[in-house]
Amino acid sequence: MKIISVVGARPQFIKCAALSKELRKLHHEVLIDTGQHYDYQLNKVFFDELGIPKADYHLGIGSGTHGFQTAEMMKGIEQVLSSENPELVLLYGDTNSTLAGALAAVKMQIRIAHVEAGLRGFNRSVPEEVNRVLTDHCSDLLFCPTQKAVDNLTREGIIDGVYLTGDVMVDTLADNREISEHSKILERLGLRKGSYLVVTIHRVSNTDDSTNLEQLVDALCELDETVVFPVHPRTKKVLRERALYDRLDKKMHLIEPLGYLDFLKLMSNAKRILTDSGGIQKEAYLLNVPCITFRDTTEWAETVEDGWNVLVGTNKELIIENGRFFNPQKERCDRFGHSVSMKIAAILDRDI
Ligand code: UD1
Ligand code: UDP
Repeated sequence: MKIISVVGARPQFIKCAALSKELRKLHHEVLIDTGQHYDYQLNKVFFDELGIPKADYHLGIGSGTHGFQTAEMMKGIEQVLSSENPELVLLYGDTNSTLAGALAAVKMQIRIAHVEAGLRGFNRSVPEEVNRVLTDHCSDLLFCPTQKAVDNLTREGIIDGVYLTGDVMVDTLADNREISEHSKILERLGLRKGSYLVVTIHRVSNTDDSTNLEQLVDALCELDETVVFPVHPRTKKVLRERALYDRLDKKMHLIEPLGYLDFLKLMSNAKRILTDSGGIQKEAYLLNVPCITFRDTTEWAETVEDGWNVLVGTNKELIIENGRFFNPQKERCDRFGHSVSMKIAAILDRDI
């Protein structure tokens, strides 16, 4: 079967690394990179490190407002779909690249498979939530990472084509855990295993709202811990615009975004992770590292229920208290599946 996969942002490259490999054993995959992320450290580094097949189409869309970016992607994807005439379009996650792929395909009556379907944070002010809901409602095959995701879809009346497969990021992590041991990131930064915190921030609510951003910066500056913060370009831009970058730089290792192998090594050996990322909350859980999340809601509620993730929003006291002392008491569970890519590729072979 000819499948067109659409990727474009960092977490999508990481997810497709595992699935592309399995898909290509059984199917003909054509890869579109929308170019939503374009810096080397947000795009090509993952192709180079993770052996992702070269994209067949580079749309080169880049940054812009939601409407502009999504519309430009739709135009580019539609053109490729017209010329390639695939039987299925495969989409990952919840970015604007995902939504653009869903809208372009559904209007051309091409079947859609959504990897990471059914996730809900129940907060429509989060742009990703809108992308998730709309993509799920356009999709024919919905690959859910968790039972909760299946239940969310059931509540919205989506029952046909729903599969509980587990989460593909589990596979990328498993495939690269050992390789990442060779990373020299700890030596480069002069870090001892288990003695530092990792921070990431890139959500709109935390970067574009100046009060929230300042509260986060205040809290991080008062933490009095060794902190490594690979800074997403969105965040770097606003930190510089608001003259907050130098303040943080004096207190911690502010570094460029890392490739997956360095970042995996950094996360695996961290004392705690503080983040607003979706994927990193889950990776922290898989890696046995306590996570403190700069959000009020999460689509990965299992990690919170199991006591390994705590939602602190931008509350300074909670960030400092948990950043210093958060210590999960419960055992983790086997929440996110195994060999997920193989399962998805087999379902596509059987059911389409
Ligand atoms: C996007 C996704 C988000 C995902 C994140 C992963 C949407 C709506 N958001 O957020 O769900 O969690 O990717 O990291 O799709 N920029 C650069 N270089 C790049 C890419 C971006 O400098 O290579 C800067 C630009 O100033 C741009 C800003 O970052 O305007 C935001 O980029 P964008 O892709 O719109 O959203 P993200 O915040 O990266
Ligand atoms: N990641 C990375 N380098 C970094 C920060 C994150 O490789 O400097 C990886 C991380 O391990 C995870 C993914 O990027 O697999 C998460 O992407 P991001 O936080 O940008 O997006 P989200 O998951 O929030 O959509």
